[in-house]
Amino acid sequence: MFRTHTCNALHLEHVGEEVTLSGWVHRRRDHGGLVFIDLRDRWGLTQVVFDPDTNPEVHKLAQTLRNEYVIQVKGVVRIRPEGQANPNLDTGEIEVEGRELAILNKAKTPPFDINKELPVDEMLRLRYRYLDLRRERLQRNIVLRHKVVRYIRNFLSDEDFVEVETPILFKTTPEGARDYLVPSRVHPGQFYALPQSPQQLKQLLMVAGYDRYFQIARCFRDEDQRGDRQPEFTQLDVEMSFVDQTDILDIIERLMIGLVDTLSDAQIMTKPFPRLSYYDVMDRYGRDNPDIRFGLELSDISSLVADSSFKVFSDTVSQGGLVKGINAKGLGGYSRKQIDDLTDYVKNFGAKGLAWLVVEAGEAGPVAGRSSFAKFLAESDMAAIISQLAGEPRDLLLFVADKPAVTNESLGRLRLELGDRLGLRDDNLLAFCWVIDFPFLMWNEDEQRWDPSHHLFTAPVDEDIPLLDTDPGQARGKQHDLVLNGNEVAGGSVRIHQRELQEQLFGLIGLEIDHAKKQFGHMLEAFEYGTPPHGGIASGIDRLVMLLAGEPNIREVIAFPKSQAAMDLMAGAPTEVTEEQLKELHIKLR
Ligand code: AMO
Ligand code: AMP
Repeated sequence: MFRTHTCNALHLEHVGEEVTLSGWVHRRRDHGGLVFIDLRDRWGLTQVVFDPDTNPEVHKLAQTLRNEYVIQVKGVVRIRPEGQANPNLDTGEIEVEGRELAILNKAKTPPFDINKELPVDEMLRLRYRYLDLRRERLQRNIVLRHKVVRYIRNFLSDEDFVEVETPILFKTTPEGARDYLVPSRVHPGQFYALPQSPQQLKQLLMVAGYDRYFQIARCFRDEDQRGDRQPEFTQLDVEMSFVDQTDILDIIERLMIGLVDTLSDAQIMTKPFPRLSYYDVMDRYGRDNPDIRFGLELSDISSLVADSSFKVFSDTVSQGGLVKGINAKGLGGYSRKQIDDLTDYVKNFGAKGLAWLVVEAGEAGPVAGRSSFAKFLAESDMAAIISQLAGEPRDLLLFVADKPAVTNESLGRLRLELGDRLGLRDDNLLAFCWVIDFPFLMWNEDEQRWDPSHHLFTAPVDEDIPLLDTDPGQARGKQHDLVLNGNEVAGGSVRIHQRELQEQLFGLIGLEIDHAKKQFGHMLEAFEYGTPPHGGIASGIDRLVMLLAGEPNIREVIAFPKSQAAMDLMAGAPTEVTEEQLKELHIKLR
């Protein structure tokens, strides 16, 4: 028997017992003859003491121990001497007097400290991921992830959902990213695609009658990496029949509330979760994944400045652009240099400049003080702008004039940056909100055609169906996103279940029916055999756990993540393969 207890199990009630522990040497201290070992396993730490007077042989061996050696200790539990208890440890009131010691395995000096939470270069962490995973931070995250998935499985099972696995080797299921392809050995020149999501399969499960399906599903998307993206990631995938949008939102909302209440100390900001329309959200926050933990909302001043003599503003409006501003509360003391920094910041997102003004106290109310554009505008116009942004003395008002997408994105980002600078993004708050009423279609300028704003199978809002003939850009889709602290943590929709509507959509997006049949023939065919109205959603488990763990990127909550360059630095993947393998796959490299 390797152990009688784990390293987090011994307390005062065990004093006097003979125990056996196994684990890693977390830390060794030599104290005037006594050797102290903190012994570690995934449950915790226990202090072991080796005394030269009582056990000289064992003590001698203990002196040779180094960090990360794997050892087994037999000894007796005793109370720690007066004043030596460690209240930060579960086992802090006791120690084990080591009487026998076996070194099960030696260890090389690790490339970074396992027993300290010091910053370590991420490349090194990824290269030695198995050592990084020994550290407390990742252990905490990986265990939290397990608890999240377990909670989800239990919750949905109790709600009568059934978990069904769907294939990894499949046909392209586009979600807007590039596919990962797998060549077929048996069928020369043909390829499987790894699923970007189980979208088609879960809809086919609805056709098959597996109402209330879920899956903890691995998804693969070949897209540029960011802090909240990985080439393979995990979704909670859900699909339901005979539901409308509110049924889907309700179940996920209950799931999320239960999850947070059970597994997090953070507070949910608003319950029930606010349901906001896409247009409202874009107007107020500039992004469809708003962080609603704080205000600093954007304000549209286009109509106020349409006829102004400040060309930057008036020309933008006359060309169909947007002029919006944000009130950086209390930052009126910013220096020119600090404002230039903010200007550079918005330029990263395509803005051409940042017009600004500092509000001062005037005789009859707030007036413009220092400003980059006040000289171009009449005093009354300035007063109207200040009033619309609720400017008060010492506020800094910042403006961008550009195409709507650029104005919204740059000011939306600036809002987040200001939220950080002003300390408004409270770590202890979880602000969920639903975003609904998305536009059904987006105009694709390059290709001069409509694209589905979600995916091909999302249904339009019923009352907007006539608009598909007359003014497609105005039609809304039955799409829903769940946003948490500015991150999209889930997205889905009610699906199209009628063939005519599906074909009408193919027509609008310029997808030839023959081409559609080649790509989605199995779906179109299936839909003719009695398809129930259905809809669903998928939540990014990695992102969700990242936010619950308070981590800055999803690599911290994935056991073996890929680097920013989509590589596994530990195993060294991707790699070259042998001529032989390529030949079998009928592939020639250029
Ligand atoms: P969607 O593409 O919005 O919807 O994906 C659902 C959720 O998955 C997460 N996610 C990611 N997480 C990590 N890395 C990535 N590369 C990544 N891409 C997406 C996000 C996102 O909200 N089939 C639809 C769902 C449906 O309609 O039911 C879908 O996949 O949190
Ligand atoms: P200028 O007349 O070019 O010196 O610009 C006056 C102010 O307007 C400066 O603060 C610029 O940063 C700002 N500005 C220039 N272009 C834009 C724009 N598209 N949106 C907002 N501000 C701008």
